[in-house]
Amino acid sequence: MRIWLSRPHMSGREEAHVAQAFASNFVAPLGPQLDAFENKVSQYLGGGLHCVGLSSGSAALHLALRIAGVGPGDEVWVSSMTFAGGIFPVNYLGAKPRFFDLDKDSWTVDVNILAEQLEIAASESRLPKAIVPTDLYGQSVDLDPLEALAAQYGISLIVDSAESLGASYKEGRMAGTGGDAAILSFNGNKIITTSGGGMLVTRHKAWADEARFLATQARDPAPHYEHSTFGYNYRLSNICAAIGLGQMEVVDDRVSRRRAIFDRYRDALIRPGISFMPEPDGLRSTHWLTAFAIDPNQVGVSREDIRLMLLEHEIESRPLWKPMHMQPLYAGTAYHGSGVDERLFSQGLCLPSGSDMSDDQQDEVIGRILQLLDSAN
Ligand SMILES: Cc1ncc(COP(=O)(O)O)c(C=O)c1O
Repeated sequence: MRIWLSRPHMSGREEAHVAQAFASNFVAPLGPQLDAFENKVSQYLGGGLHCVGLSSGSAALHLALRIAGVGPGDEVWVSSMTFAGGIFPVNYLGAKPRFFDLDKDSWTVDVNILAEQLEIAASESRLPKAIVPTDLYGQSVDLDPLEALAAQYGISLIVDSAESLGASYKEGRMAGTGGDAAILSFNGNKIITTSGGGMLVTRHKAWADEARFLATQARDPAPHYEHSTFGYNYRLSNICAAIGLGQMEVVDDRVSRRRAIFDRYRDALIRPGISFMPEPDGLRSTHWLTAFAIDPNQVGVSREDIRLMLLEHEIESRPLWKPMHMQPLYAGTAYHGSGVDERLFSQGLCLPSGSDMSDDQQDEVIGRILQLLDSAN
């Protein structure tokens, strides 16, 4: 049987919640399951936050950027090493991304480079409208200095927490609570899934109200359909939210399992020339995907040797995200950094990490990699 990178993992409770939604005929993009799901996530993140269930994480980012006032010609500063869904919404609004490198000690955005560039941009009156750092592979960005910078320069901070539901940042502050807003993804491969879905999480009630308004076609109060701006059809279906309710019952188990998978890979494979994604003190990643880098000169095999060997054995693995500044779409776009992300892309691999993967399956992955590593020595 093929071993996948990260598959949907049901708890067995989802169908009961879906049945309840059917029984009350809330087969609609609104309903009690959606309200309950939003409340559940808000409580899980520590309470006091406004959560808006949406059709995807990308939709959540699109709305957050629009609410932050991003428009044609504006700049949005983003982590370069991320998934396209965490960047494309900048283009939807006619704005331009500017890309930033990772810190080699955390593999999340390098806050020092951001700070330097903000100082220069401020002196030249060309500050960005928003900053969107990514909680890469489930690890929170360094929120304290990012929030301080956003406040200092009066810029919106929108944290891409698509991969980090259940991670924490210092003294138990949950990932997904950062900045003006954070976005979550419930895509099929994420920590929890609603089949497809996302959420905008914000401490500003006005942002949540605006997101709900824009996500339901921007209908002004009137008995007929009245519009003073354009909106989107972006709400999460009540049926999908019901799946989410079943998933929220096991979110902590899912995170523990992914962390255990990471630890097992690291303990088995660590050696000179192989480095696993570091976890800075005080941070707790979800380890959504186990990410590691192989120096081919030291190890004797490359990332591609491992990936292709696994593929021959029906085991899915994937290179780390190709940095956006290296993508043909963004050729010529500004990038700041020393290429930490470029090196990680050329040497990095994500291993199968789904919470439903068995120990036997993981042993097979580990065994095959060890065999290849040993054959190179
Ligand atoms: C970092 C990151 N940002 C954004 C997204 C977009 O989320 P969605 O697929 O729900 O649109 C994803 C995942 O898919 C992601 O991994």
